[in-house]
Amino acid sequence: MCLRAVSACASAQWQISYVASVPVITVDGPSGVGKGTISHMLADRLGWHLLDSGALYRVTGQACVIEGVSWDDDPAVADVARHLDVAFSLAANGEMLVAYKGLDVSAAIRTEEGGRGASTVAAIPAVREALFARQRDFLQPPGLVADGRDMGTVVFPDAPLKFFLTASAAERAERRYKQLLEKGESVSLPRLLADIQERDERDSSRSVSPLVPAEDAIVIDSSATPISDVFARVMLEVKKKGFI
Ligand code: DC
Repeated sequence: MCLRAVSACASAQWQISYVASVPVITVDGPSGVGKGTISHMLADRLGWHLLDSGALYRVTGQACVIEGVSWDDDPAVADVARHLDVAFSLAANGEMLVAYKGLDVSAAIRTEEGGRGASTVAAIPAVREALFARQRDFLQPPGLVADGRDMGTVVFPDAPLKFFLTASAAERAERRYKQLLEKGESVSLPRLLADIQERDERDSSRSVSPLVPAEDAIVIDSSATPISDVFARVMLEVKKKGFI
């Protein structure tokens, strides 16, 4: 997997035609469905770039906290998104590091509060517009695995292979509960479930780029399915398309 710093440049016309032939595989779905894990595994296996679009929304939420901007102040949040000074890199252990203005925010953006902030700012149309070109910028040879909510519907609608992962909210809350316990964080399972349901509702009902599967997406229900089986199913489709 290759990661690179995000540049703020809007793609020029020649860049668009240059990257037109670069393949993209989109992996969309709600929080906690395992799409991050699947996307990492896929990018590793193919040696392609990885776009974690949720991280861009998470950094925007965190940047607002740092800059003292309220998540409800739409014009100010959009301004933060437009000028987002963010860089991605890989730690020695393979984990993705995220920096805002050179400050490591990797842990802060992954908290439950970070998720709430991301989901709130992601509902602002001007924020989505500001982050659109940055996401398209990740489209570089030899290929891109794009993880998010609207990768297959809005950001890369022409992607030749699209996945949409689903799992029940109860199952996702349970998985998140175990992850947080392993990290030594004390959490309440009912609270996690309520948070997930609230976030699903916000992500699915917003006016712009709501969380819906693309018409041509392959929908995989990952409830009660080991991640290795989900990955095997994904790889089957990747091979069918001749990417490997
Ligand atoms: O994938 P994630 O949990 O890191 O995403 C955090 C939030 O960001 C999620 O609640 C909705 C938002 N998001 C989005 O609106 N569009 C994307 N492409 C990715 C994430």
